[in-house]
Amino acid sequence: MLVSTKEIFRKCYRRYGIAAVNVWSMEQIHGLFRAAQKANAPFIVQTTPVARNYAHPEMLLAMISAAAKIYPDTVFAIHLDHGNREHVFDCIESGGYTSVMIDASHESFGENVSITKEVVKKAHAKNITVEAELGVLSGVEDDITVDEKSKKYTRPAEVEEFVNQTGCDSLAVAVGTSHGAYKFSGGLGLQFDILEEIQNRLPFFPLVLHGGSAVNFEEIQRINASGGQLGTDARGVSDEELVRAIQYGVCKINIATDARLIWTRVHREFFKLSPALFDPIVPGKSFMKEYEKFILEKFELLKATGKA
Ligand code: G3H
Ligand code: 13P
Ligand code: NA
Ligand code: ZN
Repeated sequence: MLVSTKEIFRKCYRRYGIAAVNVWSMEQIHGLFRAAQKANAPFIVQTTPVARNYAHPEMLLAMISAAAKIYPDTVFAIHLDHGNREHVFDCIESGGYTSVMIDASHESFGENVSITKEVVKKAHAKNITVEAELGVLSGVEDDITVDEKSKKYTRPAEVEEFVNQTGCDSLAVAVGTSHGAYKFSGGLGLQFDILEEIQNRLPFFPLVLHGGSAVNFEEIQRINASGGQLGTDARGVSDEELVRAIQYGVCKINIATDARLIWTRVHREFFKLSPALFDPIVPGKSFMKEYEKFILEKFELLKATGKA
C-alpha cells in the first residue's frame, strides 16, 4: 500500500527508523519488497535522477507498482532522492511519487529557502511531501562532488528558520556522514550534539540521515578477495550510531552504497567461483536473496519489523 511519509514519520518518530532504499534494478526491487512483506516493516523506496536516467522513470515506477501487487502487504512511500528544481517538478507533474527531495543545499541559505518554498507550494497542492537539505555532506551526491574541506555541518539555529520559512516536511542534515563507501575519512563519527540541539529547537520534526550505509567490512574483504580493489579505509555508519540517531529525531535513513557492495560481491564471486557458467539468472538470484537478507537485518536493527 502506497502511503504518505507524513503518516510514516508521525508513527516512527523517536521509536524506530525507516530505511529509505535507493533502487535502480528489478532484482533490488524484488529483494526489498520481499523483505518488507516478510518483516511487515514500512519503508521508503527511492530513486535518484541518475537511476531514473539509467532505467527510465516509467520503468522504475512500473516495476515498483508491479512489486506492490506481487507483495500486497507492503506499506511504503515512493520518493525522489536528490532532485533539483526540474527533476522535482517533473515528478510532481508526471505523478507516481508521494514524496520528493529538493536538494538545493549547495546554494546560499536564501536561495535554498526560496527554491524549497516554491517546491513545497507545488508539491503540497498535490499532497506530495517534501524533504529539503540544509548543510553540505562530503563525498559524491549524484554528479556533484563536494570537497571534504568544504563540508558544512548543519547549523541548528538555521534549521528552525529554514523549516518555518519553507514549510518542508522533513530535513536532511549534515551531521558527519557522507555518501559512498569512504565515510568519516576525517575520523569523526556522527555529531550527536548537533542532532540534539536541532531536536531541542524543533521537537517532533523528522530528520533525514543521508549516507546511511553500514559498509560492512566483510563485503570489502570478499570483493577484494575476488579481484576487487576497494580501499581498506572503506567505512560506514556503525549500527550503534544508527540506532542512537533515532532517539534524536532521525526518522529516515538513506541507503544506496550497501546495495552496490552486495551486488559487486555477489557478481565478483560468481565470476571467480563459477567460470564455466554464463547464465545471468544464477548471480541475479543470489543477489536477490542476499539483498533481501540485508534489508531484513536492517529492519530489525532499526526496530521497524512488525510496524507496517
Ligand atoms: O545520494 C545517493 C546516491 O548515493 C547517489 O546515487 O549515483 O544514483 O545518483 P546515484
Ligand atoms: P550511502 O552512500 O551511505 O548509501 O547514502 C545514500 C544516500 O544518502 C542516498 O541519498
Ligand atoms: Na532523499
Ligand atoms: Zn543522499
